[in-house]
Amino acid sequence: MGFVKKNYSDGFFNVGDKYGFLPKKAPLETLPNRYKKLQNILDDMPVNINGKSGYLDQPGKIHDSVDDLPNYFDNVKEESNIMIIQALFRSYCFLASAYTLEPSFQHFRKTGYYGKAKNILPKQIAQPFVEVASKLDVYPWLDYHYAYSLGNFKKIDKSGDHKWTNLDMCVRFSGKPDEVGFIMLHVDINQHSPSLVGSVINVLHALKEDNQKDSVKFLKENYYTMKLMNSRRKEMWKASRWNHYNDFRIFIMGVKGNEELFGKGVVYQGVWDKPKQFRGQTGAQDDIIPMEDIFSGVIKHYPKNELTKYLIDLRSYRPKCVQQFFKDLEETVNEFEGEGISDVLFKKKNFDGLSYLLGILEEIYHFRNGHWQFVQKYIMANTKYSKATGGTPIISWLPNQMKAVMNEMNYVISLINNNPLNKETSLIFQDISNSISKKVDLLDHQLKLIQKKSFSANKIYDLNKKYNLSDNPN
Ligand code: HEM
Repeated sequence: MGFVKKNYSDGFFNVGDKYGFLPKKAPLETLPNRYKKLQNILDDMPVNINGKSGYLDQPGKIHDSVDDLPNYFDNVKEESNIMIIQALFRSYCFLASAYTLEPSFQHFRKTGYYGKAKNILPKQIAQPFVEVASKLDVYPWLDYHYAYSLGNFKKIDKSGDHKWTNLDMCVRFSGKPDEVGFIMLHVDINQHSPSLVGSVINVLHALKEDNQKDSVKFLKENYYTMKLMNSRRKEMWKASRWNHYNDFRIFIMGVKGNEELFGKGVVYQGVWDKPKQFRGQTGAQDDIIPMEDIFSGVIKHYPKNELTKYLIDLRSYRPKCVQQFFKDLEETVNEFEGEGISDVLFKKKNFDGLSYLLGILEEIYHFRNGHWQFVQKYIMANTKYSKATGGTPIISWLPNQMKAVMNEMNYVISLINNNPLNKETSLIFQDISNSISKKVDLLDHQLKLIQKKSFSANKIYDLNKKYNLSDNPN
């Protein structure tokens, strides 16, 4: 059993206080010249290339171009440089999704409904794709870490920061600014993850050493970082217009859970005889909220339902080093006596620490409540297809996790009760304990509307304004 270590690396990611969840080095923007034909397809693939029509804009064109693609299987086998392996994985992920989902996209353009996907990957994609995926020890389908998001950014001004306005995607589907803004904002939020990961690890080490002063310092750092991340997250409303989400959404769909599109699965020619199903890329593969849930104790309130099963299943869709980090983190938190860090802080009469923990929980709540508003607008108000890209029935699941956060908030409020606090923590405590019932009412009110046979996503969304918890600053 391992106490959480200071960092976890696979050569590409290095999870710790220096890089957080971002890669150690900027990903390669393009493939080495020996893969020129593959790179050319990716460059010519987006629906829109600076106002010109790319392959995905023209029915069947991507399939014709793949007919002429060499099978790089033997070349790929020889690769040992992690940066090249990652860039190759990203390339085949994009190509496989474009190749299979292009018919669904064309059907959607004509009818507003996603049509059937093509469920065969030809040898020249399947064989090198599965080879690079096994080198990274991940599933051969578009993922969040190595492919669509964290391993797919390039800075516009190389000396600038990781704000979404200074980022572009190395590989794209739609080629429109809403796709770039949407996924680059995930990278933007994660630019602050070094301090988030660092503070989680440092709090646990401080508690192990019974250093209460340091535990308060690092809990405070975690709280302020979550606040900053939430303010960056709200930029989504600007970075990607909600009514343009469908321009690219179809291409990030997974196979598992989306049987209406893929039937029994995708056949990887020349690799496996039977069709395979893997989950799609989704922000649910991001690491910020899952890490905070484990750390803060929210995870112990997760309901026993399908969403929880899905979230745990998604652990296996992360790089192995992130999986190991989560495992050690969970074991470390469980090793403390009682129910997690809230009980340790209580036992040590560390009420300032508990108040920062309450602040962290409230930020997890804001993250999820703002995110629930994204789902209402970007998906529910926008589409007739009820499955999310990860393959989940989104409407009924997401609010459960919000309830879990509120349960832990109420528990921590009960632990702090009337105990003495400093000036800042007392303000945090007053503010949060006075407003928690409003949050519970808002959620109950929304759930009541959702349970009705027919409901309007816009009405559910508008309730946030009534409770003064609207996420959209525009
Ligand atoms: C317009 C923006 C977004 C939309 C439409 C959206 C949509 C969704 C949907 C539909 C799910 C349900 C599960 C699934 O099928 O995978 C989900 C889950 C999730 N998303 Fe997002 N998402 C957005 C932005 C983000 C961002 C920016 C992050 C974090 C950086 C994020 C993190 C998560 C997490 C952690 C879950 C798991 C559920 C939970 O723990 O509460 N999402 N998202």
